[in-house]
Amino acid sequence: MAYQLLRGKKGIISGALDENSIAWHVALRCHEEGASLTLTNAPIALRMGKIHELAEKVQAEVIPADATKSDDWKNLFTRAKEIHGGGVDFVLHSIGMSPNVRKNKPYTDLDYDFYFKTLDISAASFHKMIQTAYHLDAINEWGSIVGLSYIAAQRVFPNYNDMADAKALLESIARCWGYHYGIKKKVRVNTVSQSPTPTTAGTGVAGFDVFYRYAEFMSPLGNATADDCANWCVLLFSDLSRKVTMQNLYHDGGYSCVGVSEKLMELFSRNA
Ligand SMILES: NC(=O)c1ccc[n+]([C@@H]2O[C@H](COP(=O)([O-])OP(=O)(O)OC[C@H]3O[C@@H](n4cnc5c(N)ncnc54)[C@H](O)[C@@H]3O)[C@@H](O)[C@H]2O)c1
Repeated sequence: MAYQLLRGKKGIISGALDENSIAWHVALRCHEEGASLTLTNAPIALRMGKIHELAEKVQAEVIPADATKSDDWKNLFTRAKEIHGGGVDFVLHSIGMSPNVRKNKPYTDLDYDFYFKTLDISAASFHKMIQTAYHLDAINEWGSIVGLSYIAAQRVFPNYNDMADAKALLESIARCWGYHYGIKKKVRVNTVSQSPTPTTAGTGVAGFDVFYRYAEFMSPLGNATADDCANWCVLLFSDLSRKVTMQNLYHDGGYSCVGVSEKLMELFSRNA
């Protein structure tokens, strides 16, 4: 159901690789809610993924940007300002990648070149994105920035590897920028800590299926899907969440508050 919550708003959405990507669903919902969009992804993802298909659906221009390069963010925000005739109202950072995860290097035997790449792509890029927008004055007053996180920033999920460190940094960057951008222009910055979601990045983590099912068993409402996440992002981009900033918001069907569920206990007693 559409409520036109974003009518007249302009936004930038990063990270839509294919129809499984969380960003893909966010873009579709934002479009449905009346927003004008610009899409972005890494140049290689533009060639390998399906972003142009999405761009057609949501009538958006696609501007390539490697999230680790400040100059690419500069070009993106400058171009977006031209396209939209001024600043944008919301930005989604939906970017993550760990070469250590990809190459099966465990947390106890990390390759440090890979490690710094993980942190750069998955966390420092959030800082670069916001700093560029801040200096170009590319986000309108009461604008909203959202980054996507995961509960491994607070609790140990061994296979999530160095992405856990990246998410902890991402959440800290949201808090710090939320302060500075809030003072300067009332721009709010939050992270959404999303349930395990079957996407390219998600399923790349060893044992994804198991912790997806575990989370499903633990969450009273069940795992939040990419569509659910899209609804939550729409709310955070809308004027209905104007005073929410510097928060890490769990969007996980209640998973983060449960110690053990009856469903899980039942499963264990059956297997005892
Ligand atoms: N899938 C999950 O279970 C889950 C759970 C919580 C949080 N998240 C987070 O959601 C976000 C989106 O991931 P997803 O699950 O939709 O997977 P995805 O693989 O569809 O999206 C990840 C995106 O990051 C982009 N990317 C990688 N390196 C880049 C670079 N250098 N420059 C620009 N873009 C780059 C990829 O091209 C891709 O589009 C990530 O931050 C991820 O950590 C995912």
